[in-house]
Amino acid sequence: MKKHNYSAGPSILPQEVFEKASKAVLNFNDSGLSILEISHRSKDFVAVMEEARSLALELLGLQGKGYQALFLQGGASTAFLMAPYNLMKENGKAAYLDSGTWATAAIKEAKLFGETVIVGSSKEDNYTYVPKGYEIPADADYFHCTSNNTIFGTQMQEFPSTNIPVVCDMSSDIFSRELDFSKFDLIYAGAQKNMGPAGTTLVVVKEEILGKNGRTIPSMLDYSKHIKAESMYNTPSVFAVYVSLLTLQWIKAKGGIAAVEKLNNAKADLLYAEIDRNPLFKGAAKIEDRSKMNVTFLLNNPEHTETFDALWKAAGISGLPGHRSVGGYRASIYNAMPIESVQVLVDVMKTLETKV
Ligand SMILES: Cc1ncc(COP(=O)(O)O)c(C=O)c1O
Repeated sequence: MKKHNYSAGPSILPQEVFEKASKAVLNFNDSGLSILEISHRSKDFVAVMEEARSLALELLGLQGKGYQALFLQGGASTAFLMAPYNLMKENGKAAYLDSGTWATAAIKEAKLFGETVIVGSSKEDNYTYVPKGYEIPADADYFHCTSNNTIFGTQMQEFPSTNIPVVCDMSSDIFSRELDFSKFDLIYAGAQKNMGPAGTTLVVVKEEILGKNGRTIPSMLDYSKHIKAESMYNTPSVFAVYVSLLTLQWIKAKGGIAAVEKLNNAKADLLYAEIDRNPLFKGAAKIEDRSKMNVTFLLNNPEHTETFDALWKAAGISGLPGHRSVGGYRASIYNAMPIESVQVLVDVMKTLETKV
């Protein structure tokens, strides 16, 4: 039986994507060859890369607006250092919002390159909210934020207006909600949550911000070099890019980000309503900053843990335990999670009331 997969990442993908991807492993485009054994320079794969790059921009509403999409390697963790390498001047400075563990990891890398100003932090409160009311220094080379804090279950609802380039790690909520993406100058996201398998990172960059910081950048870390090579500077993660393309096509067929967001809102509303109604549970994040992708919650009485764990496991649910720094539970309800699976979890939470 297929499980209800609440894993934070790598995570659930649409069933039809799994089916198409497995066909391509055996016989890609009726070529008599597996996608795993063809050249990345072959006509068929070049077409995959071109469509994936262009569809990413189309879905974000950034087509023809001076942006380029790239599918790189090294995960979002490599983007943590590519951002300062490409954007921070020698003796320059950058502004960072510290909203969680991944933001902290990005800050650690930026500090290797120059002055790194933390404009706001919710660390003292174990990142239960997104810092607000901060000021961004006008002379910083860029501002960096994390749109969705995967571990803590918080999500930025508003983004600051600033004249300096805005860089955003959207690893765990890319393609999940409508935003004015043209407010961002550099977006990056590891594929393994809302887009595809682990192994590729989507980077969307406004070309005009590149090549201005005066640094000599190693080729593999230089966004301009990757743009010039049409995201084929070296051998790309062929399969991860292909599966990402299948997911982007699935989003488009659903009606684009707007349609997917409607479903995501319905799923999040269903689950948060139960967390707030059920006296056995409480949400881990401040209500106003709750994430619609990673729903973190706790049992009010830890003595119910064994009974609850047995119930959700018996219901075919997988990947529900929270990250060790929050404890409790984390239901990752990415784009591909059907509302029927969320209902299964809600029913289990209701059943617990009858058992304790
Ligand atoms: C928001 C966020 N940023 C960055 C990362 C790190 O991504 P990667 O493992 O692709 O380096 C993660 C991984 O969970 C994440 O959730």
